[in-house]
Amino acid sequence: MSTPKKVATLVGSVRKASLSKKLALHLQSLAPCGLQLEIVDLGNLPLFNPDEEAAPPSQWVSFREQVSRSDAVLFITPEYNRSIPAALKNAIDIGSRPYGQSVWNAKPGAIISLSPGALGAFGANHHLRQSLVFLNVPTLQQPEAYIGNAEKLFDDSGSLVPATQDFAITYLRVFEQWINSNITLPE
Ligand SMILES: Cc1cc2nc3c(=O)[nH]c(=O)nc-3n(C[C@H](O)[C@H](O)[C@H](O)COP(=O)(O)O)c2cc1C
Repeated sequence: MSTPKKVATLVGSVRKASLSKKLALHLQSLAPCGLQLEIVDLGNLPLFNPDEEAAPPSQWVSFREQVSRSDAVLFITPEYNRSIPAALKNAIDIGSRPYGQSVWNAKPGAIISLSPGALGAFGANHHLRQSLVFLNVPTLQQPEAYIGNAEKLFDDSGSLVPATQDFAITYLRVFEQWINSNITLPE
């Protein structure tokens, strides 16, 4: 059997009771055996400032290394003010530099956005897509994942409700096929 593909999993919320983080933890156990989801901590990343690139903070260095050694990236994010939360944008910017050494380049990606509201963080999902186009991340198109009413995703025992579980399993299977499809992009 081949080695599972490592998927750097970036959760857009850094709060303790985050629904996005809860979903990410469930996805870790629902992933097919060909995928290994590794949640990357964004909460400890100092704010990106190009002036610090000469002696980058150790957290930037380890973040860049962790994404670099992964085979793919999965974003699970809520929406803040119709865009992505600052913690996630900060991580994207850190990974994109130094110029010419972006860790995102040509990594297959996928986005799951969620919100307690009805629109499923559509705005955040598509703002993120805008950056991923520029960063040369070939991003899964279908199925789209805009999860609304996110507070109802989990039952009283904390388990994922069956309908979302089924969707998550299908989504991760399709993402696995996408990662393995060996899309080649100009570097
Ligand atoms: C600063 C801020 C802005 C928000 N803006 C939006 C928004 O534009 N659209 C939306 O659906 N929810 C918005 N919300 C609500 C979040 O979707 C909600 O708090 C969600 O649970 C956050 O994700 P988490 O549970 O993973 O932390 C906002 C919340 C905060 C704190």
